[in-house]
Amino acid sequence: MAEHVTIFEMGPRDGLQNEKTLISTADKIALVDLLSQAGFRKIEVTSFVSPKWVPQMADAAAVLAGIERKQGISYAALTPNLRGLEGAIAAKADEVAIFASASEGFSQANINCSIAESFDRFAPVMTAAKEAGMPVRGYVSCVTDCPYDGPVAPESVASVAAKLLEMGCYEISLGDTIGAGTPETVEAMLEAVLKVVPAARLAGHFHDTKGRALDNIEVCLAKGIRTFDAAVSGLGGCPYAPGAAGNVATEAVVARLQALGFDTCIDTQALANAAEFARGLKEAA
Ligand code: HMG
Ligand code: MG
Repeated sequence: MAEHVTIFEMGPRDGLQNEKTLISTADKIALVDLLSQAGFRKIEVTSFVSPKWVPQMADAAAVLAGIERKQGISYAALTPNLRGLEGAIAAKADEVAIFASASEGFSQANINCSIAESFDRFAPVMTAAKEAGMPVRGYVSCVTDCPYDGPVAPESVASVAAKLLEMGCYEISLGDTIGAGTPETVEAMLEAVLKVVPAARLAGHFHDTKGRALDNIEVCLAKGIRTFDAAVSGLGGCPYAPGAAGNVATEAVVARLQALGFDTCIDTQALANAAEFARGLKEAA
């Protein structure tokens, strides 16, 4: 039997957060509902962040209230602080994510604090999430390169990933935020991270700025990682990572995984329908 690989669909959050023109709440809901038909078990729907920082995600609660929830799917939201967590709990997100950076420059630009301060902010989020029985995922951004600080040391990534695991995150997603990683830099980074976090607790999150995302995913597969983040139709970018292209396209990841003999449980026709809708949103924006 083919080995399973999980795809965490990022389109509605990482995909849309960077769109300059506001997309209607109804269209966001329609996108999530189309994705729910495609067989994903994890969909990142939105983020409970400051609307001054990311105006596109200001309707987080309304989107979560409007989607048609399918059993067996975990609908996720980003929560940078306690206020975000409270919003996500009230909106009945199934899981949340905290997001740290392996580089100081990106931490400051993205969440307005140092790496150390970010952990001080995450501590009460983790405590409250635990009390609420809410699973928490952790992101590490800039795992090979930072748009502000340049190349990032593998040891910095390992130290942030280990801390997130120690704080109670069930999985750590390693983000190549600007899509500058190569198989060589990704391999070096993984060698350091795997000393402190087992492959079963890691995910790969690749943006595809330089067209290396699929190669980087193969490096992760060879190291035993079996969860990958991707965005339908390659939507996306990050408002605080200038020049970063979208996440690797889910369709491309599914095709590559199938070619390599892995099973993803994704219905490719339903995914194509969601991709067509996503392209329409981008063209209209
Ligand atoms: P701050 O200015 O340091 O914090 O921002 P603050 O506590 O002073 O709050 C500023 C304002 O935001 C206040 O409003 C707060 O009430 C409000 P004001 O008094 O000015 O009217 N506020 C909030 N509003 C709604 N929900 C909240 C919330 N918290 C505060 N949860 C903060 C700190 C973290 C809030 C801000 O920097 C922020 O929202 N940053 C989010 C940036 C973001 O969403 N980036 C994109 C996601 S990360 C990413 O894409 C990378 C990833 O994909 C992985 C990868 O690719 O590497 C995950
Ligand atoms: Mg990202």
